[in-house]
Amino acid sequence: MSARNRRNKAGEVAARRPHEFYPTPPDALAALEPWIPDLYRGGRVVEPAAGDGAVVAWVAQHCEPEDLVAVDIEMTHARRAALIEAGATSTIRGDWMDPELDLRARLLITNPPYSRAQDFIDWSLRRCEVGGAVVMLLRLGFLASLKRRQWWGGVPLARVGVLSRRPRFVNGSSDSADYGWFMWRPRHTGPISLEIL
Ligand SMILES: C[S@@+](CC[C@H](N)C(=O)[O-])C[C@H]1O[C@@H](n2cnc3c(N)ncnc32)[C@H](O)[C@@H]1O
Repeated sequence: MSARNRRNKAGEVAARRPHEFYPTPPDALAALEPWIPDLYRGGRVVEPAAGDGAVVAWVAQHCEPEDLVAVDIEMTHARRAALIEAGATSTIRGDWMDPELDLRARLLITNPPYSRAQDFIDWSLRRCEVGGAVVMLLRLGFLASLKRRQWWGGVPLARVGVLSRRPRFVNGSSDSADYGWFMWRPRHTGPISLEIL
């Protein structure tokens, strides 16, 4: 069972949060530190499912983007304010899978809603400049699926960083799933680097 589907004290399965809003905890972001030299490439950075800005704040602090765009399907006044406070230079209320959303970036980085992760990766790769990167926080189990077997053969996965510590998404507790950061690079064809973060 994942944090996004966990049982409460009465043993009932808790409902998923609307739009699967589970902010990334600070230690999961801190674990990305060894990747910073590979993430900083100048240009525009997009957070495609920005929530209230956990990833945006980390990027603003570590990647010095020229332009940091925060997109989310849910964009209340409070969220917009939190995103600007976190360092976003602009915010967009929108569905990341909307073909009308005309955005290209050097780095696209997020912790996506898990049920739409594959779509988020595909749309992020379409919007990623050559020489850039798509980086997502995902369960490691995302790698193992008959449904995705063929798909994995067609996407340029370059790097996987396994999180040694399980992220605590809900009320400070972790779930039974292991997570990692995944990086794709447009046109990457070489081996996939595996690291323990
Ligand atoms: C797991 S939360 C992560 C939030 C943020 N990325 C973070 O790391 O703290 C997923 C976010 O995806 C947003 N979301 C869900 N479906 C979306 C869609 N189709 N397009 C854009 N954002 C979406 C939700 O509103 C929520 O803020």
